[in-house]
Amino acid sequence: MNVLIVGSGGREHAIAYCVAKSEKADKIYCTPGNAGIAQYAECAPIGAMEFDKIVAFAREKEIGLVIVGMDDPLVGGLVDELEAAGIRAFGPRKEAAILEGSKAFSKDLMKKYKIPTASYENFTDADKALAYLETAKFPIVLKADGLALGKGVLICSDLEEAREGVKAIMQDKKFGDAGQKMVIEEFMAGREVSVLSFVDGDTIRTMTSAQDHKRAKDGDTGLNTGGMGTFSPSPFYTKEVEEFCNKYIYQATVDAMKAEGRPFKGVIFFGLMLTEEGPKVLEYNARFGDPEAQVVLPRMKNDIIEVMEACIDGTLDKIDLQFEDNAAVCVVLASDGYPVSYEKGFPVTGLEEFEKHEGCYCFHAGTKLDGGQIVTNGGRVLGVTAKGKDLKEARANAYAAAEWVQFDNKYMRRDIGKAIDEAWPRP
Ligand code: AMP
Ligand code: GLY
Repeated sequence: MNVLIVGSGGREHAIAYCVAKSEKADKIYCTPGNAGIAQYAECAPIGAMEFDKIVAFAREKEIGLVIVGMDDPLVGGLVDELEAAGIRAFGPRKEAAILEGSKAFSKDLMKKYKIPTASYENFTDADKALAYLETAKFPIVLKADGLALGKGVLICSDLEEAREGVKAIMQDKKFGDAGQKMVIEEFMAGREVSVLSFVDGDTIRTMTSAQDHKRAKDGDTGLNTGGMGTFSPSPFYTKEVEEFCNKYIYQATVDAMKAEGRPFKGVIFFGLMLTEEGPKVLEYNARFGDPEAQVVLPRMKNDIIEVMEACIDGTLDKIDLQFEDNAAVCVVLASDGYPVSYEKGFPVTGLEEFEKHEGCYCFHAGTKLDGGQIVTNGGRVLGVTAKGKDLKEARANAYAAAEWVQFDNKYMRRDIGKAIDEAWPRP
């Protein structure tokens, strides 16, 4: 069948890599795609929010499966529009993508169904939020309700900072409409783990675990970014943690969505915090993580199209999801200055090295073709992923591969996966 992938980041490149390996895929298309995805797919310059054009394109190209990678079109209802036009699509419908699209919704869901998470209050009125802060404990966490490119979360250490935060979100609308509503929640200390899962409305199959590094600078300092690197599996995601999450979080979330009349089909990304009181949900996303997908998908043994079709058809219980017994590390090569301001348009060299090394991948995030030359075109430019027999080897391989690639103003964190040293050997 012909497959269309919607998105343009490193995550969509990792998805395209898996689709290209599938026996079931004939021609692959991507809208809008990037210079790396173009290796596997014919890219068309259609924006991810141009629903009518995507539907028309899918019809014209006789697409048998559309894979929606990004949050905005999922929350906006692209899957609904495709289905209405009789086109098969992988990803949650609008009514289910709200799990990511509204933090207030997801917090209320967790409270109603007793899924462990930080305690919280929702607010639609800035004065009430400000009054609530007067008796709150610090640090405290403020979240704009809607999608805000992963930037709508503020961790405030005192009352003054929190007041400023409420004003920024609700009055100055720093995160746009995402700040019509907000959540104020308890700060949780602990280690973060990301667990992605396939869901068919009833059945859930979790993938191998991963950990992201969200801050721009070494030692988890600097501004929050979309993610500067990942490793998989997380040595902190022990059998006990997994059992707890199986019992109280994963199936409970799927069942809760079904009970609410919002059956979820697609990928649920569980952002977990491993606290002293046990694992709790930090957030849900309704899609693969970026750059989690870049370390999880290359380790997946299954045919991705088979798994996605099982999600659509409600037959995921027949799928035995399997991952390689190894590890992967992804180091993001960014433009210096990201996430604030940076120059782009610099030629990228050294990419051919990846063809010579099995188990090493260069997933493009912000690149484009300029007269036959690949040039930088974003804050996060490339995600260099390498596998290894264990995390240490994968990390050494990823940092070696990161040196193959050159472009002006190249910047990377040097400590991706460093925390794994504390947890060695893998439990
Ligand atoms: P989110 O977009 O909800 O994942 O939040 C972004 C990041 O903020 C998370 O990955 C955490 O590092 C941090 N964060 C969010 N909520 C909390 C919380 N309740 N306690 C501590 N850190 C948090
Ligand atoms: N890496 C975090 C996210 O995709 O939201």
